[in-house]
Amino acid sequence: MSSSKRNGSIPRGREHGAAGDVRGEVYDRAYYDKWYRHPRHRVRTRAELARIVRFVFSAAEHILERPVRSVLDVGAGEGNWYPLLTALRPGLRYRGVDPSEYAVARFGARRNLVQGSVTDLAAAGVRGPYDLVIASGMLNYLGASDLRTGLAEIARHVGGVAYLELFSSQDAFTGDTDEMPLRPARWYARELAQAGFVSCGLHLYVPKRDAGRLARLEVLAR
Ligand SMILES: C[S@@+](CC[C@H](N)C(=O)[O-])C[C@H]1O[C@@H](n2cnc3c(N)ncnc32)[C@H](O)[C@@H]1O
Repeated sequence: MSSSKRNGSIPRGREHGAAGDVRGEVYDRAYYDKWYRHPRHRVRTRAELARIVRFVFSAAEHILERPVRSVLDVGAGEGNWYPLLTALRPGLRYRGVDPSEYAVARFGARRNLVQGSVTDLAAAGVRGPYDLVIASGMLNYLGASDLRTGLAEIARHVGGVAYLELFSSQDAFTGDTDEMPLRPARWYARELAQAGFVSCGLHLYVPKRDAGRLARLEVLAR
């Protein structure tokens, strides 16, 4: 539970530009080769990702009390969640959004990825709501202003549950996060609340308007 890998498994972007940089060429093939395939640098194995996907999917269905039918994956990268999600639920409607020119050119057609930024999902042609919105390993790249805009954009598209993976300056990291604008957990909690999210723990959130459907002790604060 307390391994540093669990606490922080976000690739660093120093070689690729400033944190929060949304230029598509920053997240190139070398970035994904290093952080997703290189045995020494990769942030998680396929088995670790599969476990997270199963957890998020099951938790979302538990909260929704019905099958998850649609997923929006913001900052989807190469769309690695896509095959795992569709294996769990064939026929699932999945849309991934990422600024990476490389990822969209290589995986866009087969994994339903479009180029765009969390700061303007409409420009990427995204229309909500989605049962489950995922932002895995990407929100930490954003500066304060983009994070605020991005959380508001995500909130607009959540029809059920959001998985918003965020690490704070109080967490341990395996990678070097010098370029990431890390803040204390309290700061992120405030931004998430301001965007209208209520925490269910373990990076899971429901929109405030739906929190009343959950028991008092299923949510952290209302
Ligand atoms: C560590 S990768 C995570 C990829 C994927 N979500 C995963 O879990 O494997 C971070 C991703 O965030 C994306 N990203 C960076 N800035 C972004 C932005 N403003 N909007 C959306 N995605 C962004 C990058 O292109 C990159 O693919």
